[in-house]
Amino acid sequence: MRILVTGNQGYIGPVLTPLAKARGHSVTGFDTGYFADGAPDPAVQHQIRGDVRDIAAKDLEGIDAIIHLAALSNDPMGALDPELTLDINFRASARLAGLAKSVGVPRFIFASSCSLYGASGGEADLDETAPLQPVSAYALSKAKTEEALLALADRHFSPVFMRNATAYGVGPRPRFDLVVNNLAGWAYTDGVLRILSDGTPWRPLVHIEDIALAALCAAEAPADMVHAQAFNIGHPDGNYQVRDIALAVQAAFAGSQLEFSGTATHDPRSYRVCFDKALNQLPGYVPRWTLDRGIDEVAGWLRAGGLGAHRFDSPHFNRLAQLQQARAQGLLDRDLRPASPLN
Ligand SMILES: NC(=O)c1ccc[n+]([C@@H]2O[C@H](COP(=O)([O-])OP(=O)(O)OC[C@H]3O[C@@H](n4cnc5c(N)ncnc54)[C@H](O)[C@@H]3O)[C@@H](O)[C@H]2O)c1
Repeated sequence: MRILVTGNQGYIGPVLTPLAKARGHSVTGFDTGYFADGAPDPAVQHQIRGDVRDIAAKDLEGIDAIIHLAALSNDPMGALDPELTLDINFRASARLAGLAKSVGVPRFIFASSCSLYGASGGEADLDETAPLQPVSAYALSKAKTEEALLALADRHFSPVFMRNATAYGVGPRPRFDLVVNNLAGWAYTDGVLRILSDGTPWRPLVHIEDIALAALCAAEAPADMVHAQAFNIGHPDGNYQVRDIALAVQAAFAGSQLEFSGTATHDPRSYRVCFDKALNQLPGYVPRWTLDRGIDEVAGWLRAGGLGAHRFDSPHFNRLAQLQQARAQGLLDRDLRPASPLN
């Protein structure tokens, strides 16, 4: 298949594209390059530098499936500018899907998120029929995009919604603004894992390679098995309270301490998710990573000097801080458009 991967130069993208290549697909990448630092992606045959808000029909010529990752990719970024999050994450995604349908791209895999379950309290494992309760602009953007894409579904166009859990793990462009990697960064750098909440919220977790695998399984599946379907993407034992994540990370760093500061205002996001549908109905989806193995991977990478010259909590590894810095330096304008045109 010829697969267009938008947002291929972030955290998940450079893990997904080699897997796609290894499964015999040819990959076109499409990305603004916000975090790309000029490094080429050897698994991508053709790289387009562009903004999904401007993507054109010619960019979609000959494409069999789109895996749409490009987004402002977490809750804090949505709080920075809710309208911008809706522009990039929702309006541009809905427009791209409409364009894809109009030029005959049959499959559209959307990187949605379990965060659209929002403030559901963590009492039960939610399946894909559970009501959506987004509590952030980011989560709302994912919910609205799913709704818009569902309205486009017909026998020639199959959108699929990958409701990914929170990612962890190491890739070519790792993030340390996500809970597992962040706690490992604290443990390695300061020997103290700082937890801003009381540690009780529930979070489903998944390794980035398993997110990548699931998206490719959705692209490759017979249409009738995935058409207009949502799938929660994670591991069968993939729900944790934040304090249990912290204990698991602490165990990988001898002598490290836990510190619950309780300084954060109450975090309304708490949800437990059921992954049975993807495990039973998404052909080929067999997640390979457990949390403990993923923590060992991150710890090994940190000990091997993976951070280089940067601290784990510097803008280099934090998406919101990096975009804020690029704005402050005048490299990007308020709408995250580059000061000099993309070529
Ligand atoms: N990482 C997670 O825990 C997680 C969990 C659930 C869902 N997701 C979703 O998966 C997708 C990828 O996540 P990630 O962690 O790799 O994020 P990331 O921030 O590391 O990467 C996003 C990529 O999109 C690009 N991008 C952003 N705005 C763009 C625009 N307007 N035009 C073109 N490119 C643009 C960025 O340059 C970047 O390369 C996102 O849609 C995210 O919401 C991620």
